[in-house]
Amino acid sequence: MGSLTVRNLPEDVKQRLRMRAAANGRSMEEEVRLLLAEGAAETPAPVKKPAAAKGAEQAAPATHRVLLIIAGGIAAYKSLDLIRRLRERGMAVRVVMTKAAQEFVTPLSAGALAGERVFTDLFDPASEFDVGHIRLARNNDLIVVAPATADLMARMANGHADDLATAVLLATDKPILLAPAMNPRMWGNRATQRNIARLVADGVATVGPNSGEMAESHEAGTGRMAEPLEIVAAAEALLTRTHDKPLAGRRIVITSGPTHEPIDPVRYIANRSSGKQGHAIARAAAAAGARVTLVSGPVELPDPPGVATVHVETAREMLAAVERALPADVGIFAAAVADWSVAQAGAQKLKKDGGGPPQLALVENPDILATIAKLKAKRPRLVIGFAAETEKVIEHAKAKLKRKGSDWIVANDVSAAGGAMGGDNNAVHLIIANGGEVNVESWPTQSKDGVAKALVARIAAALKAAP
Ligand code: C5P
Repeated sequence: MGSLTVRNLPEDVKQRLRMRAAANGRSMEEEVRLLLAEGAAETPAPVKKPAAAKGAEQAAPATHRVLLIIAGGIAAYKSLDLIRRLRERGMAVRVVMTKAAQEFVTPLSAGALAGERVFTDLFDPASEFDVGHIRLARNNDLIVVAPATADLMARMANGHADDLATAVLLATDKPILLAPAMNPRMWGNRATQRNIARLVADGVATVGPNSGEMAESHEAGTGRMAEPLEIVAAAEALLTRTHDKPLAGRRIVITSGPTHEPIDPVRYIANRSSGKQGHAIARAAAAAGARVTLVSGPVELPDPPGVATVHVETAREMLAAVERALPADVGIFAAAVADWSVAQAGAQKLKKDGGGPPQLALVENPDILATIAKLKAKRPRLVIGFAAETEKVIEHAKAKLKRKGSDWIVANDVSAAGGAMGGDNNAVHLIIANGGEVNVESWPTQSKDGVAKALVARIAAALKAAP
């Protein structure tokens, strides 16, 4: 370990590490140390049989990963049983406990049942690293909060991230299941009802609370946490939904990011593009079961997991990589390809030698979208282009649909007011060629991940309708 130096890494790994470190404002060595520390914390412990299940049948290998967040309520004692029940069904369980939860049950008992350490703090005092709340948030198939207390739900509904549990809940893109548990008066309080309504509107699923006698008092009413087996059933239903693979067996090629057209070894022509939307589509398509080839220009984003990513610089390289990735069922062209390249890029850096600026002769780049849309034999069944417009968005996108010969155009407003450029949200219109007609759907502003998932769902429906 001590002999590992950045210098010894392969050049392409070093390049990606350099970009990642720059994006995070760290040195490359710091980035490596952090990755190693996170990797060690993330390596799932082998799923041991829970102690109580001794003598029972050998547990099957973990099929799903559940992150269980235990908040501070008397019902926390039932969460220990919940860990056992989830594991009995072959799920790997990782546990996060809030500070208040530790007043009711200990991390030691939860850890013994889960078969691995329990996470309690945003920062681990035993090491100089943070515990990697982003990885905790993402490295699972489902997050279950049980018990979900009134306080935790209030903080969640308002987007707080002041402890590990809320930071994970805010950072996740995975389904969330809440099992509320509290005193009936607290449950009935308008503030709690407002918070739960907001969370449900945000897409959070709930199970319970049930009615009956409360553990801590002789009060009866609604507020009892759902029983562990009810929570397991709700978790299984959500996991089945998540693992639906509507694009299983489909091949999709996606372009993303800008292209760089060299002027000389240090200068280039490019369009502004973060690649966030194209990469989000690649992630969503892979999650839906497609075999995805992502042809990416230079971006500061990690390669999406489970996606074959081809890195290119120029438009010509991008076209060649797309052609190599055919045949495919669907082609999605989200890259901001530079329209021109320099006819004769300088082999050496151009000098300011007092003779005035250089005269750059430009040549037109191949139009990748139009080229693929016009293919005869290898044309994907569904060809989707993007249109970044600053005005008359729909009108220009409709014209582009015809000119390029694509089936759909995803049009977005990239005027400064829209904030789509480089940002995390996008407001798009889906322009669909429908025989001689053109249909236009305007989607609400949503995250680029949201747009990606909605687009993937539409693609799956279109392929199913015309197999
Ligand atoms: O012509 P314009 O660049 O506005 O068209 C945008 C659409 O065309 C996008 O889908 C983009 O990826 C694609 N395109 C391309 N090759 C080019 C230029 C644009 O694939 N050279």
